[in-house]
Amino acid sequence: MTRKIIIDTDPGQDDAVAILLALASPELDVLGITVVAGNVPLSLTERNARIVCEVARRPDIPVFAGCDCPLRQPLVTAEHVHGKTGLDGIALPDPQMPLQDQHAVDFIIETLQREPPGTVTLCPLGPLTNIAAALQKAPEIADRIQQIVLMGGAYFEVGNITPAAEFNIYVDPEAAEIVFKSGVDIVVLPLDVTHKALTNRDWVETMRAQGRVGEAVASWTDFFERFDVAKYGSKGAPLHDPTVIAYLLQPDLFSGKHINVEIETQSDLTRGMTVADWWGVTKRPANALFIGHLDRDGFYALLTERLGRL
Ligand code: RIB
Ligand code: CA
Repeated sequence: MTRKIIIDTDPGQDDAVAILLALASPELDVLGITVVAGNVPLSLTERNARIVCEVARRPDIPVFAGCDCPLRQPLVTAEHVHGKTGLDGIALPDPQMPLQDQHAVDFIIETLQREPPGTVTLCPLGPLTNIAAALQKAPEIADRIQQIVLMGGAYFEVGNITPAAEFNIYVDPEAAEIVFKSGVDIVVLPLDVTHKALTNRDWVETMRAQGRVGEAVASWTDFFERFDVAKYGSKGAPLHDPTVIAYLLQPDLFSGKHINVEIETQSDLTRGMTVADWWGVTKRPANALFIGHLDRDGFYALLTERLGRL
C-alpha cells in the first residue's frame, strides 16, 4: 500500500536530497511537488524543483509554483547558505519539464478534496505559506489531511536564522501559527534532530562514487556544509529535509514527544520561535509530535541504499 504525499518545498540542497529520497522510495506516491519562496525566491525554487525531478529522471512528477512571499512578512531568503541559485554545487542544465499552470495552493486544495479523507500526507520542507494559504482558502481540508510531517522549529537547539528561530518558521510565522493551530496531526522534525543528521566525509565520498545522482548529492552537500561548519564548527552538513521523508519510510529511526508547540508572532526579538512545551509546564494541549532524536547510522544507511536506486 503506497502512501500518497505532496512535498511542499523551497529547494535548497537539503530539499533536493529529500525529493530524491522520496522519488527513490516505492512506498511513497508523490502526487505532486508544490514550491514556495524560502531559501531563494520562487522563480528559483520552482526551477530547482524541476531540475531535481530531472536528476531523478522523473519529469512526470507535476511541479506547481505557489506563494512568492509570506502571508504578512517581507520575504527573507538564505543565499548565504544555499548560494545564489539556491542549488549551488554541481552545474546542472536548465529544466526541460514544464511547470504546471495551476497554482500550488489550488493543487493542494483540489487534491485533498478529490482523494478519500485521511489518505494524503503533506510534507512541508520550507516556509509554511502554501499550506496556511490552502487552509485559509478551504478550511474544510483540515479534516481531510492524513498528517503533516514538516521540517521546522527548534527547542534545545534554538535558532539558526536568529538566536530564537529556525528559518522555515521564521520566514512565515503567521503561516506556521495557522498550521500549528489547525488541529491536523502534525509531526515536527526540528533542528534538534536534524543537527544530529550530519553528513561526514566518508559518506559524501561514497555518494560521489555512486554515479550521476550521487555526484550531484555530494556536490550539493559539499556546498551546503560550509555554512554549518563555519557557524557551528561542525564537521558536515545537516540533512534537515531528508529526515521528513525518512520519518515516513522508517519512523522507528526517530523518537519524540507529543507536546504543545506555539509560534511567536508578536515580538521582533523572538519572531518565529517555536515555543515547545517539552517539559509540559503549561496546560496547553499537545498539538504536535516533536521529534528529538534519530538513529543517525540507520538514517544514512536508508539514504545511501535508496539514492543508490536512482
Ligand atoms: O532551517 C533549515 C530549513 O530551512 C531547511 O528546510 C532548509 O532547506 C531551509 O528551508
Ligand atoms: Ca527547505
